[in-house]
Amino acid sequence: MSEKISFDGRVAIITGAGGGLGRSHALLLAERGANIVVNDLGGDVHGNGGSDSAAQKVVDEIKAKGGNAVANHDSVATPEGGRAIVQSAVDAFGKVDIVINNAGILRDKAFHKMDVDMINAVIDVHLKGAFFVTQPAFEIMREQGYGRIVSTTSGTGLFGNFGQVNYGAAKAGLIGMTRTISLEGAMHNIKANVIAPIAGTRMTEDILGPDLFAQLTPESVSPIVAYLASEECDVTSYVYSVAGKRIARVFQCEAPDYLLPEQTPEAVRDNLAAINGPEVPKPFIEFANLAEETMLLAESLGRAEN
Ligand code: NAI
Repeated sequence: MSEKISFDGRVAIITGAGGGLGRSHALLLAERGANIVVNDLGGDVHGNGGSDSAAQKVVDEIKAKGGNAVANHDSVATPEGGRAIVQSAVDAFGKVDIVINNAGILRDKAFHKMDVDMINAVIDVHLKGAFFVTQPAFEIMREQGYGRIVSTTSGTGLFGNFGQVNYGAAKAGLIGMTRTISLEGAMHNIKANVIAPIAGTRMTEDILGPDLFAQLTPESVSPIVAYLASEECDVTSYVYSVAGKRIARVFQCEAPDYLLPEQTPEAVRDNLAAINGPEVPKPFIEFANLAEETMLLAESLGRAEN
């Protein structure tokens, strides 16, 4: 396929797009014709404070390059904020085709010292924030029979990281959320996928050394985000790890079934190696079959809506 991927006529909401990765995604989609809602609260990396200028600056950049964008300064972390973000897309451009859940903060602390505010703040922005923005957008996407959702997890959500129990839980939650949105969206041509990026931004400037910081640019993460947000996206419910030029699909798999000889804890202990099994993945359901299989499943569970 040699034709360029275009976003002409498409409307994209990008949360937390006042800097870092979100800004880079916004610039790429705008350059390819999308109308963009640049959402950002404009706070610091811990989620304190706020300023309208972060989002507005990116809107100015997009407009200076001939693109089309509006700024939005609501927080993703409340239902009212989420609805207002989606409404600003409808007010400015009449619809929503794409949601990129990217807004994020950090409140790192060892688990035994993590207080309830640190837990709530991080889950509110990353996980509930994605619910609050995606849900009103999903209603519109269902109606129009088209939608693309890209959410941002993290290596911490996939594999864990010291001092980030709150962040890891929120980021892993986005994967569970995406898996089910993919199922519910399949019959409406709504696809939802996840990226786990590494990039030099204010969030990582103290962690990545200067060389990696310079190499792992936000701009190197945006191409896969743009693909997943495009009409040509051929996958749903997938997770991709991306850093610099490197992209790897991350998937969960189940070992072959093992039949426990006796239903006792000792039988689990004594057969653990066989239960753990070799690392052979089961085949993944491909999108082509997903809509049909989802409908059958929904019907058998009495959950089909139509
Ligand atoms: P960043 O701090 O530059 O971007 C996050 C943006 O979200 C900020 O502009 C911030 O103002 C905005 N934001 C925070 N709370 C908000 C709220 N309640 N409502 C609206 N906007 C809000 O950091 P970066 O690195 O660009 O992060 C983007 C996403 O990527 C985050 O979700 C982060 O967790 C994730 N990520 C980044 C990695 C990296 O290596 N930079 C690694 C793994 C995940």
